[in-house]
Amino acid sequence: MREQNERENIEPLHGCINRPHSGQGDFMRTDWVGNQKSIFSTLGASSHTNEEREYHDYYATEPKAVELLLTLEKFNAYILEPACGEGHISKVLEKHGYYVKSTDLVDRCFGEGGIDFFSFSKKWDGDIITNPPYKYAKSFIRKALQIIPNGNKIAMFLKLQFLEGKERKEFFKTSPPKTVYVSSSRLKCAKNGKFVKEHSSAVAFCWYIWVKGYKGDTVIKWFN
Ligand SMILES: C[S@@+](CC[C@H](N)C(=O)[O-])C[C@H]1O[C@@H](n2cnc3c(N)ncnc32)[C@H](O)[C@@H]1O
Repeated sequence: MREQNERENIEPLHGCINRPHSGQGDFMRTDWVGNQKSIFSTLGASSHTNEEREYHDYYATEPKAVELLLTLEKFNAYILEPACGEGHISKVLEKHGYYVKSTDLVDRCFGEGGIDFFSFSKKWDGDIITNPPYKYAKSFIRKALQIIPNGNKIAMFLKLQFLEGKERKEFFKTSPPKTVYVSSSRLKCAKNGKFVKEHSSAVAFCWYIWVKGYKGDTVIKWFN
């Protein structure tokens, strides 16, 4: 694993003291480089109303989907989850030993709130895994591709339906995913993070994998 001092000039991992954040707590704390905004969000002082929290397309990913992803693909030790919600993806990654930087536009008492992914100005020298707000999914992928080095990976948990559409056809010509893993059984995303046991999902989800610089055909595989 690379030493942290080799990671100068790239986005550092932020800590989140006293927040349900990390199985890598000590690592996160020694690496704290937060600012005033992150201190406020650390203390839980957020100006977001409940309506705002529910807004911004908050659907939490079923942790099983992340467990399954990790059986399909290998990732860099450093992962950015730039739309982390309450950490349903991040927590599974951390459990598997990844160092995860978790941010979200909205402070949901996990990771660092108040961070708009589109305003990220630094590069990220790792991989990116998220379930983005669906209506901005293409822009999230574009932004993610901009900030990682060639050869690094992006994994996005998106609807099967993301494959269709004229605009996306054009986007896929220039930025083809390397692999799309279609879930054969339904996985769940819970509105506002409230999973209801008896409800099965009406939506087919996939893991879409981009490798920056990849220009070949997209391979479709099935899992679950
Ligand atoms: C579909 S939810 C997924 C949450 C989490 N990734 C998960 O899988 O459980 C999308 C998340 O994106 C956040 N979000 C929306 N716009 C954003 C932006 N511009 N930058 C960062 N996060 C954003 C929302 O607040 C919400 O938590």
